[in-house]
Amino acid sequence: MTYLDPTVPDYRPQVPPGSGHGIAILGCGDIARTAHLPAYAEHQLDVVGVWSRSPESVRRARAAFPFIGRAYDSPEQLLSDPRVDVVDLATRVEHRRRWLEAAVDAGKHVLAQKPLTDEPETLEPVLAKADAAGVRIAVNQNARWAPVWRLATLLVQDGAVGEVVGVTHLLDKPLPPITGTHFDDIPHMLISDYLVHWLDITRCWLDDNHVDVVQARDERVPAQPDTAKNPWSATVQVGCRDGATALIRVVGDARTRTPSCPFWIHGTEGTIRGSILGRDFLSLERGDTTTTYRLEGAWFVDGFAGTMGELLRAVDEDREPYNSARHNLASLRLVAAARASAEQGGAPQDVDLAL
Ligand SMILES: NC(=O)c1ccc[n+]([C@@H]2O[C@H](COP(=O)([O-])OP(=O)(O)OC[C@H]3O[C@@H](n4cnc5c(N)ncnc54)[C@H](O)[C@@H]3O)[C@@H](O)[C@H]2O)c1
Repeated sequence: MTYLDPTVPDYRPQVPPGSGHGIAILGCGDIARTAHLPAYAEHQLDVVGVWSRSPESVRRARAAFPFIGRAYDSPEQLLSDPRVDVVDLATRVEHRRRWLEAAVDAGKHVLAQKPLTDEPETLEPVLAKADAAGVRIAVNQNARWAPVWRLATLLVQDGAVGEVVGVTHLLDKPLPPITGTHFDDIPHMLISDYLVHWLDITRCWLDDNHVDVVQARDERVPAQPDTAKNPWSATVQVGCRDGATALIRVVGDARTRTPSCPFWIHGTEGTIRGSILGRDFLSLERGDTTTTYRLEGAWFVDGFAGTMGELLRAVDEDREPYNSARHNLASLRLVAAARASAEQGGAPQDVDLAL
């Protein structure tokens, strides 16, 4: 067994030091306070201000993060502030499209929370507008920069396992709180919201492939309380034109003292296995060698520095960010097909989706 080789690509968030970009947070709820702001504090990013519908959430954010420049009186004031280069959109999905368009119209770059939209077919006009205005839209698919998944992506891109044959994920952990939260109002919530990160990373590992079929089921599990609106189990399968497949499985609210989310990437020349959200590890088997990587950091909150860092670098380097809305669009189409399948009791959905 060998450990981290100095030639291993750098999997850590790449945040330009002293970036000089003013960031304003629009919608300062739970995730903005518990993950965006701690990551920006750690990397000394310039948060020039926040606006939220709820004055209480602004108060809590400013009390915990005194480096926030100001509280805006309205979203219009935030969008017209010339100090703001990047709008960090952290509202719920139902408001995303409207604020995205308003930020693009104001000439701001945008980092939008996931899922970018639940109607991917409506995105093209705003993406075209952003291209014309020379502004970048990136998506906060922060799990792409969870250290273990980030290095797995870099290894796949480097050809470490050859051609990807299969991607498998198991969520062997309790569910996050859903019942009684706004998340439980989202139809097929596990597929439409929670598993977006797993579908998105699967899309990254199958990059350049072509998806033909998506199938998904979500079901209530034994002893699930009646107050829970959404089913607690979900299984999603993806089939590609060249025969590669993917499987994502949530068994329910798993009772375990050793939670984790193991995954496997099987390729024509090797296998990556690892785990995130508990017992994080990554190993690569290739030929006679097994390499186990000792990684620093964790999804929460390094992933949130990763998404913002990538957008800021892309702006500085005048290029598309890796987490661009266009790259994410294929993930959203996978999500939409999976949701349609679940809606039809698991009927396979034929798709024609170039990744
Ligand atoms: N790992 C992750 O990336 C992760 C984790 C949790 C949540 N999320 C996503 O982040 C988003 C926000 O989730 P949250 O749990 O922080 O929600 P939240 O309700 O705590 O916060 C949402 C914010 O949007 C504001 N808002 C609500 N309605 C609005 C409206 N009509 N106009 C403007 N602002 C409005 C709220 O006041 C609040 O400030 C969701 O899309 C969720 O899926 C991502």
